[in-house]
Amino acid sequence: MNGPAESTRFRSIKATDLKRITVGSSDKGMKLYDPGYLNTAPVRSSTCYIDGDAGILRYRGFPIEELAEGSSFVEVAYLLMYGNLPSKSQLADWEFVISQHSAVPQGILDIIQAMPRDAHPMGVLVSAMSTLSVFHPDANPALRGQDLYKSKQVRDKQIVRILGKAPTIAAAAYLRMAGRPPVLPLSNLSYSENFLYMLDSLGNRSYKPNTRLARVLDILFILHAEHEMNCSTAAARHLASSGVDVYTALAGSVGALYGPLHGGANEAVLKMLSELGTVEKIPEFIEGVKNRRRKMSGFGHRVYKNYDPRAKVIKQLAEEVFSIVGRDPLIEVAVALEKAALSDEYFVKRKLYPNVDFYSGLIYRAMGFPTEFFPVLFAIPRMAGYLSHWRESLDDPDTKIMRPPQVYTGVWLRHYMPLKERMTAKEADRPGQVSVSNAARRRLAGSGA
Ligand SMILES: CC(C)(COP(=O)(O)OP(=O)(O)OC[C@H]1O[C@@H](n2cnc3c(N)ncnc32)[C@H](O)[C@@H]1OP(=O)(O)O)[C@@H](O)C(=O)NCCC(=O)NCCS
Repeated sequence: MNGPAESTRFRSIKATDLKRITVGSSDKGMKLYDPGYLNTAPVRSSTCYIDGDAGILRYRGFPIEELAEGSSFVEVAYLLMYGNLPSKSQLADWEFVISQHSAVPQGILDIIQAMPRDAHPMGVLVSAMSTLSVFHPDANPALRGQDLYKSKQVRDKQIVRILGKAPTIAAAAYLRMAGRPPVLPLSNLSYSENFLYMLDSLGNRSYKPNTRLARVLDILFILHAEHEMNCSTAAARHLASSGVDVYTALAGSVGALYGPLHGGANEAVLKMLSELGTVEKIPEFIEGVKNRRRKMSGFGHRVYKNYDPRAKVIKQLAEEVFSIVGRDPLIEVAVALEKAALSDEYFVKRKLYPNVDFYSGLIYRAMGFPTEFFPVLFAIPRMAGYLSHWRESLDDPDTKIMRPPQVYTGVWLRHYMPLKERMTAKEADRPGQVSVSNAARRRLAGSGA
């Protein structure tokens, strides 16, 4: 059961020890230059384990495949947060308390309503998360003191608030796109059922979402709940290290998740598959990727150099969804593209395999979600991962404000010159031409501008 000894598996040195390597007395010591943190671990964590070469993902030691098979998202959130699977009564209490915190302050719903109809729902989610900070001054260390989060009660309250409110905010952002008012959550449904209820009930309290579709969504939530120090979780830890309130920290994480290289990749996969349209175009497309004219979205991963275990589960889920809502013709293109890539030397040599985003977009589309909503479906469950890391960071005696050094490459020293003595250096960088709209020209043509 146990792998290699921890000492050999997780070897690390303290980066500050490198400072002792110096060349001469004026040298400040050796630093690690590590753009993208390819080999720097800024934290220790017991939440999630990934072996990218072996295609292994475990939450608190449990293989992701087993959790996807037997667990529920809410149970997994408990596991991530508190380290063990809950007992029957603990789970019932946990489900209840999360549902009791699923209502969102009316002011936040009003702000969402005031946003433009075509606002990206991730932009709405980022704003709503940071607005939660404003609505919960009781949870703000800047107002209530830096020791606030030492209280377990205060921490736990913010955890259930965020887990409860995330789907409600997401549903309001979704309904906003269709110009519909938000729907209040129902507490007698499961987490995923309640989310689908808010999207689809139009306020009819007897509406019941399809249980199989709700289960698929729940499994997708489990698969997306945590992934150790990915870009947005690292952002959560980074912001939280300053002692800022948890809502602002998580708004920053959702901002990181918004990026196309992170949570937006499944959107890019669908665009790519739609552009391809038919399997006949695959060979030409693969040549384009190999000639670096474009990247293959949904392929490759910073950590996985093998099949992403989540992608395997998702591929199976696609068939389940299609059996309920109809088959998406792009699945044939996706399967053929995967096959072509996995038998091509370019991809094999670089260990590029389908990642979690390769098939998830097809499922989301088949379930009727617009592409810009895909990253929101990622963000809802990832709140559990962010919160688990937040909690862990609060208890870790090694936690410090994150303030990485840099390797300075600029001019060593020069002295200020008055404006009249300055010459314009030809090669110097300067602002580019800022485009002027016709409306601005019209305004500037007037007097008094
Ligand atoms: C995820 C990703 C950003 C990881 O990047 P990374 O760890 O920095 O890996 P690199 O960009 O250094 O890639 C290593 C090599 O594989 C190539 N590569 C990586 N992903 C590729 C892709 N999707 N299509 C084509 N080539 C790819 C790179 O060009 C590079 O080749 P080279 O060594 O000949 O220059 C990258 O694989 C990617 O952009 N994938 C597509 C976006 C995506 O699906 N993101 C979701 C991740 S869950």
